[in-house]
Amino acid sequence: MPARLFTIVFLFTFTALRAQTYYDVEPVLVRKCGVCHNPGEAAPFPLLNYEDFTKRLPFIKKVISTGYMPPWQADTAYSHFANQRGLTAEEKQAILAWIDHKAPKGKAPKNAPVLNTNAGKLLNGRAPDLVLKSKIPFTVKGNNKERFIEYKVPFELPAGKSVEAIEFVTNNKKIIHHVNYGFYSVADSSVDLDAGLSTIDTDEEPQNRSAFDQLKRTMVYYTGWIPGASAEYYPNDFGWTFPKRGVVIFTTHYAPIAADEQSIVGVNMYFKDAPVKRPVRIISIGSGGVGERDIDPIFMIPPDQVKTFELKMRTPEEQSLLYVWPHMHYLGKSFEAFVVTPGNDTIHLVKIPQWDFRWQELYRFKKPVKIPRGSVIYMKGTYDNTKDNPFNPSDPPKYVFSKGSMRSDDEMFTLLLIYAQYNLGDESIDLE
Ligand code: HEC
Repeated sequence: MPARLFTIVFLFTFTALRAQTYYDVEPVLVRKCGVCHNPGEAAPFPLLNYEDFTKRLPFIKKVISTGYMPPWQADTAYSHFANQRGLTAEEKQAILAWIDHKAPKGKAPKNAPVLNTNAGKLLNGRAPDLVLKSKIPFTVKGNNKERFIEYKVPFELPAGKSVEAIEFVTNNKKIIHHVNYGFYSVADSSVDLDAGLSTIDTDEEPQNRSAFDQLKRTMVYYTGWIPGASAEYYPNDFGWTFPKRGVVIFTTHYAPIAADEQSIVGVNMYFKDAPVKRPVRIISIGSGGVGERDIDPIFMIPPDQVKTFELKMRTPEEQSLLYVWPHMHYLGKSFEAFVVTPGNDTIHLVKIPQWDFRWQELYRFKKPVKIPRGSVIYMKGTYDNTKDNPFNPSDPPKYVFSKGSMRSDDEMFTLLLIYAQYNLGDESIDLE
């Protein structure tokens, strides 16, 4: 072999075989773990530097190889999202190889990676234009029981506003499993927004469950948050109009905790000056939404059964889809949604092979997905109402159906779509 070629081959082999060091895998680790594993975020301990990671290597190896961390439910081979948190096969392999080779530290590169706070690039540290928060901290009892608390936060502005982005905020992320929240307009000034209750404990105070109903008549927008989820934002002329007067209602699902904790929930609102030309809408398909009666078979899950349901819905208008948000409760096992166009093309939306109630997610597409008029949206959901399902809230399993509520002994088969009417060229807008 000529000497030069030998050198090249030697160098190549040497480079390929060189053990991964911490600094090789750090950018991925910090980006994919540190977003949640950092003080003030949801995860129980920080994972931000070499010491943090090496303290827990066997544990980290386990959660990565089982795919438990980073939590990401959607099948990455099925469809792609801008807020993708999962590890690619290569990333996973590199991290595991590093751990298996005794996790060497190596030398820090000159340009150390900057922690991506996942705040959404649009926000860039910008201060919110309006912060709507619950006023009195709520004490979540440390009785090891999950809880569903509804909060009412009133607002009144001189005029409506164009919304560019929204971001859920709380003083205590670690105790929240997930939150759904809706913005309601209450134009009638004779309705006192501050009157009555400001929180409802939906399990402990069943008599109060409808206390906010009269404020919830005109829903303007609806969304959700899970630990680690980033801000929701709308590019260019997209957005929605924040009403002059009304309430935000947060439905907060707390994890079971052993000691009392205080909780404040709220939302940062980011406005833009230009009026919204491309109104963003949210539609809920399935239980609690449109097409509820068309779920096939009727949405009832007998005890000790694994049962699959389907729903087909024709889209009445041409849409640019920005986000999809599948929703099921504890019995959920798998979920899939796709679109078949009038020209018989299939567009994959989202597939969750192993549903996990704890990681509800708004999936943001990389670019708006065009759904032609007359396309059919297909949803398929499988539920496990046997005692083999470790999350089954009833032991023994009982008959379950949908009351369209968030209560955990209830089930849902729902797909929420966040979209605008299609305009030419939307496919090339960057939502990353
Ligand atoms: C979306 C936020 C999020 C991301 C991203 C994330 N974690 Fe976590 N992690 C959590 C939360 C919340 C918990 C505690 C709740 C739980 O264990 O389910 C946790 C728990 C853990 C645990 C303890 C598991 C147990 O059984 O107690 C380990 C280990 C862990 N994470 C490692 C990682 C690693 C390594 C990464 C990156 C590859 C990562 N996490 C990414 C949110 C996150």
